[in-house]
Amino acid sequence: MSAIHPPSERLWWKHPLDRVEGTWIAIAFVWCMVMFFMMVWWHAYGRQNLSTETYRTTPEKFSAKAQEVVDKYTVRTETDQKIPVVAPPAGSDVYLVARLWAWWPILELEKGRTYRLHLTAMDYNHGFSLQPSNINIQVVPGFEHVVTVTPNQSGSFSIVCNEYCGINHHAMVGRLYVK
Ligand code: CUA
Repeated sequence: MSAIHPPSERLWWKHPLDRVEGTWIAIAFVWCMVMFFMMVWWHAYGRQNLSTETYRTTPEKFSAKAQEVVDKYTVRTETDQKIPVVAPPAGSDVYLVARLWAWWPILELEKGRTYRLHLTAMDYNHGFSLQPSNINIQVVPGFEHVVTVTPNQSGSFSIVCNEYCGINHHAMVGRLYVK
């Protein structure tokens, strides 16, 4: 038998298990189990992948709710594109829209207060990545992801898209203020 010629006994599963082979199978199996339980452990203790509630939605329904909050609580606009900066009351529902290639609007939250952050994508998959905290949530069209957040640090945070979404993916950045 060699790498080129097939073995004379072709039914490989009838060959006795070599000790080295068995050892590697055992190591691989144990490692699979470690990685499997790490998924659960990481979710609970990793602080990066938050638990979200997820509901079905449509772009129309979601943007109507987002627009309502923007109309009510915009305090100023920023940049040449006049992106609204929305400061919703503590404890309320806040909406963030992901679309090619922007996060809208800019949110201004208060430190130590709890908000219900609603996220959806209008078109394709986007990734919500809050920097430098490194909190990551996949944002999927057709679904409304709700995260209960309590900012514990004030400052200016960047929201970057970490799911490749086309030619301007690298420019899909947003901002979040915590006062
Ligand atoms: Cu949106 Cu990448």
